Amino acid sequence: MLTFLLVIFLTGLYFYIKSIYTYWPRNGFDDIDATFPFGNLDSVRKGLKSFGCAIQDLYNATSSPIVGIYLFFRPALLIRDSEIVKNIFTKDFNNFHDRGIYVDENDQLSESLFALEGTKWKALRSKLAPSFSSGKIKGMFLASEMVGKQMEIYLNSIIPDDKNEKKVIDVKDVTYRYAADIIASTIFGIETNSFKDKTNEFFMIKDKINENTFFNKLLGMALFLCPQIVKFIPKFIINSNPARKFMVKIVKETIDFREKNNFVRKDLMQSLIQLRNTGKINIDDNIWDVETAAENLKSMTIEQCAAQAFLFYIAGLETSASTLAFLLYELAQNEEIYLKLEKNINETLEKHNGQITYDSIQEMSYLELCINETMRKYPGLPVLNRICTEDYKIETENVIIKKGTPIIISLLGMHRDETYFPEPLKFLPERFLEDQKNYNESAYMPFGDGPRHCIAIRLGKINVKLGAVMILRKFNIEAIEKKEIEFDNYSVALMPKGGINLKLSKK
Ligand code: HEM
Repeated sequence: MLTFLLVIFLTGLYFYIKSIYTYWPRNGFDDIDATFPFGNLDSVRKGLKSFGCAIQDLYNATSSPIVGIYLFFRPALLIRDSEIVKNIFTKDFNNFHDRGIYVDENDQLSESLFALEGTKWKALRSKLAPSFSSGKIKGMFLASEMVGKQMEIYLNSIIPDDKNEKKVIDVKDVTYRYAADIIASTIFGIETNSFKDKTNEFFMIKDKINENTFFNKLLGMALFLCPQIVKFIPKFIINSNPARKFMVKIVKETIDFREKNNFVRKDLMQSLIQLRNTGKINIDDNIWDVETAAENLKSMTIEQCAAQAFLFYIAGLETSASTLAFLLYELAQNEEIYLKLEKNINETLEKHNGQITYDSIQEMSYLELCINETMRKYPGLPVLNRICTEDYKIETENVIIKKGTPIIISLLGMHRDETYFPEPLKFLPERFLEDQKNYNESAYMPFGDGPRHCIAIRLGKINVKLGAVMILRKFNIEAIEKKEIEFDNYSVALMPKGGINLKLSKK
């Protein structure tokens, strides 16, 4: 009897699993063969690929404009056609306004701008937008420049004075310290110096977020891909994450201190304090102070402020640090481009009496092209996603995407697809010149697109540019060998395997 029941159970299970992995053909879409239980993400489970690279492999495995894939057990659509992606992000945003990742109103730390949905997202996005205006970013520039100077002092101290002597340095380590200190200063309003002390709590927290453990990888993917499951994980497990505890502590201490002492600083924390006390951020870029409101009149809790600060840390650190490191790597590989950029930086600085300012950096037009090309070849976020919030017909393909379907876009795949970008593995900043554009503009989305694009484009770009200028005006960089970068097998962002080692010498 027991054997019979077991046979019935296993047969039922077999057909159930088969029905999951045939969902797309049964619904009129092509799909990519998947296996139980990780679907199309087996290479991630085996530790062979990061999520972004695994999705790029799926992108390269087909030429269909839309293809069905399976994220564990969950059917999702990988959209490869740039025009369809563009429509989803912009014109038809109302059908795709959420990312569909983990957010729970009983867990205020999960209520970040990145995760929030519908009207809650819309309200917070429009409230936060003034804190990323060019005036506000200019106000924060001085703090970033201080960090740039600390990076220069550090490099000066470790690179030999003899101009002919070169030192091999992992520039990814340097750009990480730079990006972390800038975030500490311009977002949290705290002074760290990771160049002097790499073990400071603020810097170390990134290792906790990015820890390459099986549980961390699984939880990271679940937050993104199976948010319903995360709601069943006991809160104490999620809250035990030291990064979350640390963020709440630091945000609470900073806000309490500033509110008690009427202390004002030009940073994003100050904007959050304005928002918390008055329900809005002042659109006058010269007004940073704010009256403290009674506790019951405040519009945001400490946890909700911490959720945004935590998001800014995660969203800003990896992306800025790796973009700068990848740029340096490509310059070292491409001497002609490197010399051209050096000339552009030197000439612009000469015009500005050697002063590195927000405006002088903005004037470096070749630097802009180099950054654009870096973010093309190495998109900070290799995968973008949305969830279908209203049934949606794609006329050109004559298919209907059903409400609730996760949408996956391989930015890395699209940015390295030769049908969109000729010679995709070549580093060609000139492709972004107005009169030489040789690429499909709708396929270029390093900051996403539409109303949910990156809120901090200006901040992200200026800090990467500043870092590049600080390094290139005082130091020479040289490649160790000519080769393409290999990516590591973990993290949501693209991580270079073994860091990025370059030879540096003083000018
Ligand atoms: C070079 C640096 C950066 C790159 C390449 C980058 C890239 C991106 C991308 C691709 C997205 C997703 C857009 C989409 O889904 O359409 C995004 C969203 C976001 N980014 Fe950035 N980012 C950078 C720096 C920053 C910084 C410094 C911050 C904060 C201080 C930040 C905050 C955010 C936020 C809050 C969102 C979510 C926006 C929303 O859902 O409304 N990013 N970023």
